[in-house]
Amino acid sequence: MLFVCLGNICRSPTAEGIFRRLAEEAGLSARFTIDSAGTGAWHAGERADSRMRAAAKKRGYLLASIARQVEGPDFERFDHVIAMDRINREDLLAVCPPAHRGKIRLLRDFDEHPEDGDVPDPYYGGPAGFERVMDIVERCCRRLLAELSA
Ligand code: 4NP
Repeated sequence: MLFVCLGNICRSPTAEGIFRRLAEEAGLSARFTIDSAGTGAWHAGERADSRMRAAAKKRGYLLASIARQVEGPDFERFDHVIAMDRINREDLLAVCPPAHRGKIRLLRDFDEHPEDGDVPDPYYGGPAGFERVMDIVERCCRRLLAELSA
């Protein structure tokens, strides 16, 4: 299970941390290799954004990822590559070998309210944007885990 956003410091580390804890709580951790990455490399080596970590911590999630860029072997290694927005999905499709393109999905494909399909990027906005990421990612990860463990 690889979650992907642009910088790998806000949305995809959140999905990684939430999905990991939900899988642990369900006793399903052994079924998944859970990681996250960015389509861009600007923040490689950094911890998740402090505002995102604070919003996650308020709900009991620890975001422990170190940012990295998506790389070719990821498409072999992971069975599911979950994009946080439609641009991330397009950027992934552009570099993914054709045989693995079916692994790429939007996180909001698992949302009962998918809206435009994007988890909105909170990076340049205020605190409400980070809470909104938490709300969306929590409910989508619950459904994603339920579908994969059904
Ligand atoms: P993320 O958020 O893709 O959810 O990690 C962003 C982080 C950094 C930038 C953009 C989005 N940035 O432009 O530096």
